[in-house]
Amino acid sequence: MALRIPFIAGNWKMFKTNKEALEFAEEFKKLYQDTDVKTAICAPFTQLETLKKAFAGTCIGVGAQNMHFEDEGAFTGEISLPMLKEIGVDYCIIGHSERRQYFAETDETVNLKLKKLLNESDIVPILCVGENLEQREAGKESEIVENQIKADLDGLSADKVARMVIAYEPIWAIGTGKTASAEQAGEMCALIRRVLEKLYDEDVCDQVTIQYGGSVKPENATEIMNMGEVDGALVGGASLKPDKFMGIINF
Ligand code: G3P
Repeated sequence: MALRIPFIAGNWKMFKTNKEALEFAEEFKKLYQDTDVKTAICAPFTQLETLKKAFAGTCIGVGAQNMHFEDEGAFTGEISLPMLKEIGVDYCIIGHSERRQYFAETDETVNLKLKKLLNESDIVPILCVGENLEQREAGKESEIVENQIKADLDGLSADKVARMVIAYEPIWAIGTGKTASAEQAGEMCALIRRVLEKLYDEDVCDQVTIQYGGSVKPENATEIMNMGEVDGALVGGASLKPDKFMGIINF
């Protein structure tokens, strides 16, 4: 079994100005320097260059929160892979439930974006999957997540998928303060690993980093991170303050 380094990333969503991002970076760099947990901040597009410069010389990664699958075109408001490569981002969140819910992201567009990223860059995709409350209450969470992964990874080779991060984010736990239990997080991360082994092989399922996301806080991070199949976390609200985010990184 591969020794996977814990990876805890922040997803700032639509928060912070460039000035606030710089203030965060200066404080976070002081706090982060003595830990071996891999980390990254996935920020709004306007802050990516600022954060890449601020974190230069550190091992703190910078990620985008979305990307279009075309290199250019009449797609008002969108950002392309060439634009992200020019900035030098390290990660890109793909298929976040908020993009699926509010911006018509589908498994088909997620698949196109993953193929673009993995075939044309070294940027690491963070693929988000997860069920809504109705599906969870109907006991359909495993079926939903398995089908999402099959559709999102369709046509991707084992060596490409092995480079990925997959974040299990139950929609009913995102931003609600209602965290999945450590057991639920562990069960679903284990399911994702089994699906990867079925679709590919043991080596791929061993290499993929699987995170949990959904109301992760310093108070619940240890229990969640200690679940065997959980390799990390994708943190929203609690990543906006350096000390709180470090409280999770130091789980
Ligand atoms: O991508 C992470 C995010 O969806 C979780 O948000 O605020 O529940 O930690 P939050």
